[in-house]
Amino acid sequence: MTLTASLNPVLDATASLAPSAFASVPNHVAIIMDGNGRWAKARNLPRLAGHQAGTSNLRRVLRACKNYGIKIVTLYAFSTENWQRPPEEVNGLMRLLEVSIDRELEALHREGVQIRHLGRLDRIPPSLQQKIQRAIEYTRHNTHLILNVALNYGGRAEIVDATRRIIAEGLRPEELDEATFSRYLYTSDLPDPDLIIRTSGEYRVSNFLIWQGAYAEYYVTDVLWPDFDERELLKAIEHYQRRERRFGRVLSA
Ligand code: IPE
Ligand code: IPE
Ligand code: MG
Repeated sequence: MTLTASLNPVLDATASLAPSAFASVPNHVAIIMDGNGRWAKARNLPRLAGHQAGTSNLRRVLRACKNYGIKIVTLYAFSTENWQRPPEEVNGLMRLLEVSIDRELEALHREGVQIRHLGRLDRIPPSLQQKIQRAIEYTRHNTHLILNVALNYGGRAEIVDATRRIIAEGLRPEELDEATFSRYLYTSDLPDPDLIIRTSGEYRVSNFLIWQGAYAEYYVTDVLWPDFDERELLKAIEHYQRRERRFGRVLSA
């Protein structure tokens, strides 16, 4: 890059992408990666081509998250309700997820990403289960970014699973409070999401982080997930930075 280009903010716009340093960047960002099907439909392509484009988008968004200073990213990859889709789509998605782990694991590890899984492992094809477990094990000591992959995840299933474990461990009713309950969720030791982004314009939660999202800021964009890039992520963060989080309190003027 020439000196002129690096000093020129217009020519060098990409390199200067960064959130404002005068407001806090969300620590934990969760994304409902929606719109792969509509992306494919708009191009007269099969839905799986949309999912392919969606998984290819993960790398640039994760890199941008890291560059912007986000510490925890949670991605909604497959819900407990998504099993109701046609078997070809479900099988294709599972295969794509396997291929993505194979392709991305080493690069993610080198970038210091710690991979975790949120959801139930049962029902996930055994070969994908093994790859998930290997990815978790392989990256467990990394500290630059925590990446939670919500796969076969449902917020209600998570609450049921937590409750089952609490009962199985014999906790007494008076021992249970909100903090204790949180520790039994899949996210156990992690802070709640500060910002939940949904791509593709739908104003609903679709069973995602229904406990943890109690005080998250929501941001919905019409941009379809495969088109959601570092600039769109920056826009979401800038919206977040303009919000006033009150947590039910009255803030002094
Ligand atoms: C999100 O894209 C990916 C998954 C739910 C697995 P969709 O497949 O839901 O895309 P649309 O909503 O049909 O456009
Ligand atoms: C939510 O998207 C699940 C994921 C992004 C993995 P859906 O496309 O499944 O949600 P609905 O059906 O529009 O509520
Ligand atoms: Mg959808």
